[in-house]
Amino acid sequence: MKAVQFKSHGDRDVLEYSEFSDPDVDRDEVLVDVKAGALNHLDIWTRRGLPGIDLDMPHIPGSDAAGVVEEVGEDVTRFEPGDRVCVIAGKSSGNDEFSRKGDPTLAPDFHIIGEHVRGVHSEYAALPEANLAPVPEGVDWETAAAAPLVFQTAWRMLRDRGDLKAGESVLVLGASGGVGHAAVQVADHAGAEVFATASSEEKLSYAEELGADHTINYEEEDFASEIRDLTDGRGVDMVVDHVGAQTWQSSLKSLAKGGRVVTCGATTGGNPETDINRIFWNQLSVIGSTMATPGQAEEALELVWDGTFEPRIRETLPMSEASRAHELLENREGFGKVVVIPDSEQ
Ligand SMILES: NC(=O)c1ccc[n+]([C@@H]2O[C@H](COP(=O)([O-])OP(=O)(O)OC[C@H]3O[C@@H](n4cnc5c(N)ncnc54)[C@H](OP(=O)(O)O)[C@@H]3O)[C@@H](O)[C@H]2O)c1
Repeated sequence: MKAVQFKSHGDRDVLEYSEFSDPDVDRDEVLVDVKAGALNHLDIWTRRGLPGIDLDMPHIPGSDAAGVVEEVGEDVTRFEPGDRVCVIAGKSSGNDEFSRKGDPTLAPDFHIIGEHVRGVHSEYAALPEANLAPVPEGVDWETAAAAPLVFQTAWRMLRDRGDLKAGESVLVLGASGGVGHAAVQVADHAGAEVFATASSEEKLSYAEELGADHTINYEEEDFASEIRDLTDGRGVDMVVDHVGAQTWQSSLKSLAKGGRVVTCGATTGGNPETDINRIFWNQLSVIGSTMATPGQAEEALELVWDGTFEPRIRETLPMSEASRAHELLENREGFGKVVVIPDSEQ
C-alpha cells in the first residue's frame, strides 16, 4: 500500500508518500480501507520528534481517518466488512483501574494512535475494534475524518473536565484551529456566552458563524483588556487555552473570580511565567484535559453526525501533498481542519 511516512524526525521535507508493507490484521483488529484522513497539530509534534517517544521507523503519522471495513479479525464482534467507520485514537491496554472504571485516558499506558504507534495516513490501516466508531450513511468522508479527535477533545475539556454550565461565559483562544473551532461549537451548544480570539478578521467571521458571540483579533488588541471591557470588568467564567506560553498570563487575567482555565495543549511552549498570587487570590482553577473516553467521544460524534457540530475544512489535499498539509498548520493558514485523501481515492 501507499502511506505518508518519515524515516527520521525533522522538517516537512522528511515526509514522503510511498510504498509501505500492507498491515497484518490481528485477532482483535479491523482492516480499514481509508477514504480520508485529517491532520492535527499533534502530527507536527510527532514529525519533529517528542521527548520520551521512541518511534519504530519508518513511521506513518496521523490520528484521524475514516473509511470502509475491508476485513475483520476472528475476535471482532462490532464490525463487519462494508461498515463505515472512523478512528478514535486514544488507546490503553485496558488492564488498569482507570480503564475498568471507564476512563482509559488516565491509564498509565494511555497512548495515541499516530503519536506513539503507527498512524493512519495511509491507504489501509489495521486498528483494534475498540479504536473505531461507526459512521452513519450520508456523512461524507471529510467530515468523518476531520471530526473525531478535536470534537472529543473539546467535548471532554469543556463539558466533563470544565463542567461548563448554560449561561456561563467562555473565552476560546485560537478559535481558528481544530480544537478551537470545535470548542466554540461545544460552548455555544452548552448555552454559554462565547468569546473567541483569532489572528485575522476573516478567521473571526468564521468563528462567529460557528457560534461566537464576541470576537477579538489578538494581533490588534490585548485580549485580556478587551475581555475586561466586554464583561464590565468582571472577566469570564472559563478560558479554553491550547496556545500555552504566549497566552497563559493573559488567560489568567481574563478570568473572573472563581474562574477556571482548561488546557489541552501548549502550541507555543509549556513553561510560561505564571501568577500564583492571582491564582489563589482570585481562587482560580487550572484544569488539564486530554482526549476523551470512548463514551465521551461517541457523545460528541453523535452531534457531528446529526449536523449540530460541523468540522470546517480548510483544505483537502492528496496524501502525496502531506508536506503542504503540514505547512498549512505550521503557517496558520486558514480555518478549521486539513483533510488528506489517499491519491488512489482522488
Ligand atoms: N491533549 C489533547 O488531548 C489534545 C488534543 C488536541 C490538540 N491538542 C493540542 O492543542 C493544540 C492545538 O491543536 P490543533 O490541532 O487544534 O492545532 P491547529 O489546528 O494547528 O490550531 C492551532 C491554533 O492556535 C493558534 N495559535 C496562536 N498562536 C500560535 C502559534 N504561535 N503557533 C501556532 N498556532 C498558534 C492559531 O490560530 P491563529 O492563527 O488564529 O492565531 C491556530 O489556529 C496543539 O498544541 C495540540 O497538540 C491536545
